[in-house]
Amino acid sequence: MWKVIGSLTTLVGLSLFTLDHLTTASTHKLIVSSDYGQLPLPDDPFHFIPCTKNSIPPALNDIDPSTTWAARFDPDPSHWSWGVHLNESRDDGDYSRRGIYLCGYLDLPMDYHSTSNTRIVRLAVTKYQVSGLARLSSPATSPSLDLRSLPSAGTKSPRTIVVEPGGPGGSGTFKVWSSAEEVSQRFSDGQFDVLGWDPRGVNMSLPPLSCFPHDAQRDRWSLTTQAYRETTADPLRQLSMLDAMNNASFAACKERIGDFGRLVSTATVARDLDEIRKAIGEEEVTGYFISYGTGIAQTYANMFPHRVGRMILDGNEYVRDHRLLGGFGYTALDNVTDAWHDGFLGECLHAGPKSCALAELVVGEADPNALARLQERVEKVIRSLIDRPLPAYDNKNGPSLITYSPLVAAIYEALYRPRMWPDTAQMLYELSQGNTTLAALALEKQWGFDPFTPPTPGKFSDENDLANLVICADSFDAPFEPLAWWEDLWSNMTTQSWIAGNSRFQNVFPCRHFNTYWKMNPKDVYRGDLNTTLKNPLLLISETYDPATPLRNGRRLAEEMGENARLIVHHGYGHSSQWDVSACTERIGRGYILEGQVPEERITECWPDTKPFFPREN
Ligand SMILES: *[C@@H]1O[C@H](CO)[C@@H](O)[C@H](O)[C@H]1NC(C)=O
Ligand SMILES: *[C@@H]1O[C@H](CO)[C@@H](O)[C@H](O)[C@H]1NC(C)=O
Ligand SMILES: *[C@@H]1O[C@H](CO)[C@@H](O)[C@H](O)[C@H]1NC(C)=O
Ligand SMILES: *[C@@H]1O[C@H](CO)[C@@H](O)[C@H](O)[C@H]1NC(C)=O
Ligand SMILES: *[C@@H]1O[C@H](CO)[C@@H](O)[C@H](O)[C@H]1NC(C)=O
Ligand SMILES: *[C@@H]1O[C@H](CO)[C@@H](O)[C@H](O)[C@H]1NC(C)=O
Ligand SMILES: *[C@@H]1O[C@H](CO)[C@@H](O)[C@H](O)[C@H]1NC(C)=O
Repeated sequence: MWKVIGSLTTLVGLSLFTLDHLTTASTHKLIVSSDYGQLPLPDDPFHFIPCTKNSIPPALNDIDPSTTWAARFDPDPSHWSWGVHLNESRDDGDYSRRGIYLCGYLDLPMDYHSTSNTRIVRLAVTKYQVSGLARLSSPATSPSLDLRSLPSAGTKSPRTIVVEPGGPGGSGTFKVWSSAEEVSQRFSDGQFDVLGWDPRGVNMSLPPLSCFPHDAQRDRWSLTTQAYRETTADPLRQLSMLDAMNNASFAACKERIGDFGRLVSTATVARDLDEIRKAIGEEEVTGYFISYGTGIAQTYANMFPHRVGRMILDGNEYVRDHRLLGGFGYTALDNVTDAWHDGFLGECLHAGPKSCALAELVVGEADPNALARLQERVEKVIRSLIDRPLPAYDNKNGPSLITYSPLVAAIYEALYRPRMWPDTAQMLYELSQGNTTLAALALEKQWGFDPFTPPTPGKFSDENDLANLVICADSFDAPFEPLAWWEDLWSNMTTQSWIAGNSRFQNVFPCRHFNTYWKMNPKDVYRGDLNTTLKNPLLLISETYDPATPLRNGRRLAEEMGENARLIVHHGYGHSSQWDVSACTERIGRGYILEGQVPEERITECWPDTKPFFPREN
C-alpha cells in the first residue's frame, strides 16, 4: 500500500525535534527516585507516568489494567524522557527547568449510543508537560532550584494544547513526540502543555484495527490494485478488480473487528475529544488541529459549541463535503496542479540550478517559455515510465523497478512538504539523466512493510484501513452507484489532477461496500449546519497552494461560520502552514492561543518568510 499519500495526514517526520535529544538526560543520574514519589496519581483519569519504552497501554483483556500499568512505572528519572533544557548552559543534571513526556491511557465507551454494548476503547495518550514533574519536596525548600520563571513546577499549565495531526489515521501520540516542544513554543512561548491521543483504531489505541494480519500482505495486493489509471489500457477492467479487492478487504475487516468498523466515524471521535477535555479538567478545548483533524474540530465545535476555547484549524477540510459520495476525494484536488506548476517547477526555475538540480534541464536557454519547457521535459520523463519502467538497484533492497504509479505518489507526497523539494528535484533530475538510484530509494519508502525495521511495539492498527472506514462511515447515507459511475469519477479526478487524482480516488472507492458490512446509527454522524454560535470563534488557516486541503475549503467554511471564525489566508506552499513559515501567521496564532486575541478582520492575508529552494539543503 502506498503509504500515507492517499490520506490527509500531515507528515511530521521532518520535525525540528527528534526522539534522540529526549534521551540526552539519561547521562545524568543525580536524582534519587523518591524525589518524585509514586505514579500514576490515584485520581488521574489518564494514569500518567513518565514515558519509557514500556509505557504501552495494557491489553483490553487484562482484568486488572491499573495494577499492570502501575508496574510499568520506572522510578529512575534518568530513564524518563525530558524536554530540552530551558537554559542549556545551566544543564546541571537535576532536570529542573525541563519539560517531561508523560504517557497514559483513557478508557471510553466503544459505542456512546448503546446500552447493550459495554465494550470500551482504550486510547493511548501522551502529554508534554512544560513545567516538568512535581517533586515531593516543594521547590521553595530546595534552594538549588530556581523555578521562578515557571508557572508552577511540575503541574499542568493553565491551558493544554490538544494536537490532532489528521489522516484519518494520524497518530496524536507521535505528533507529541515529534513536535510538542515546537508547538508549545510556536503558540504559547513554551507556556502551555501539549497533549495528543491516538484516535480509536489508530496506532497504540485499543482494540487494534487492521483488515490484514500483516503489512506485507497489504503490500502484496497493492501491486496490482493500486495501478494508476494512466497505466491501464482497460480502466473498467482494472476498476472491477480493485472493486472486488475492496469488497474482500471490508469482508476481512468485518471478520477481524466486527461492528467496531462503524464506530470510528468523525462524530464519534468528536465525542472522544470531549471526554479528553473533561479528563484534562478544562472548561473548553484549546488545540491545534491539522488537515483531517480540522474535520474533527469542525464537527466538535458544532456538537459542543459551549466547549470551544481557542482552537486553530490548519489546512482546512470542509466537512460538508465528506457527506457526499466520493467527496473526501474530489474536493481535495483544486490546487494540486498549481502547487506543481507555480510552486515546485516555478520556484525551481526561479532558484536556478545551484539550488534546484532540475533547473539544469533548461539552463542556458534564453527562453520566455522556460517554465513551460521545464514542465514538458519533466512530465515527459515521468510519462515515459508508463510504457517503459526503468531498472534500478541499490545495495540494501536489491533489484527494483521505477514505475509510474509510485513515482507519481512520491511527487504528491513531496508537494505536502516544501522542505522535500530540493531532494525531490535532485531525484527527478537524475532520473531524467537515466540514473535511477535516488528514485529507487524514494519508491522504497512507499511500502507499508519494511523488512529492515522491527514493528513498533504496541502498534497493531493500520492507518490506511482505518482511513477507509472513517471516510465511508461519514458518507454512509450517500447513494449506491454502479461501477460505471465510479469509472466516470475516476476519469474526472485523474483528468483534473494526474498527480493526486488516483490516490484520492482510491481513498473513496471502497465506500461502495461499506453498507454491505456495517449498519450505521445515524447518531454517529453529524449532519447539522456548521454555523452554530460558538463560545469563542475558531481560527482557520488555509494555504493558497495546499495540495490536499485547498483554500476554497477555508473560504466556504469561514463564509458559513460567519462571526464564529476568522480566516488566515496563508500564501504558502505545502499542506498546512507549518512548512512554509510566515511570521504573520505565527504572530496571530500565538496571540490567539496564548492571549485569546481574535483578529478583528474576518480574513487576514499572510505571506511566508522564505522561498522553498533557498538555501539549498544538502
Ligand atoms: C543560564 O545559566 C547560567 C549558569 O547558571 C547563568 O549564568 C545564565 O545567566 C543563565 N541564562 C539565562 C538566560 O537564564
Ligand atoms: C505510534 O506511537 C508511537 C509512540 O507515540 C510512535 O513512536 C510511533 O511512531 C507511532 N506509529 C505511527 C505509525 O504513527
Ligand atoms: C461482495 O462480495 C460478496 C461475497 O462474494 C458478494 O456476495 C457481494 O455481492 C459483493 N458485493 C458487491 C457490491 O459486489
Ligand atoms: C486554487 O484553486 C482555486 C479554484 O478552486 C483557484 O481559484 C485559485 O486561483 C487556486 N489558487 C492558486 C494559488 O492558484
Ligand atoms: C547515480 O546517483 C547516485 C546518487 O546521487 C550517485 O551516487 C551515483 O554516483 C550516480 N551514478 C552515476 C553513474 O552517475
Ligand atoms: C464527470 O464530469 C462530467 C463533466 O463535468 C460530469 O457531467 C459528471 O457528472 C462527472 N461524473 C462524476 C461521477 O462526477
Ligand atoms: C445557519 O444557517 C442556516 C442556513 O444555512 C440558517 O437557516 C440558520 O438560521 C443559521 N443558524 C445560525 C445559528 O445562524
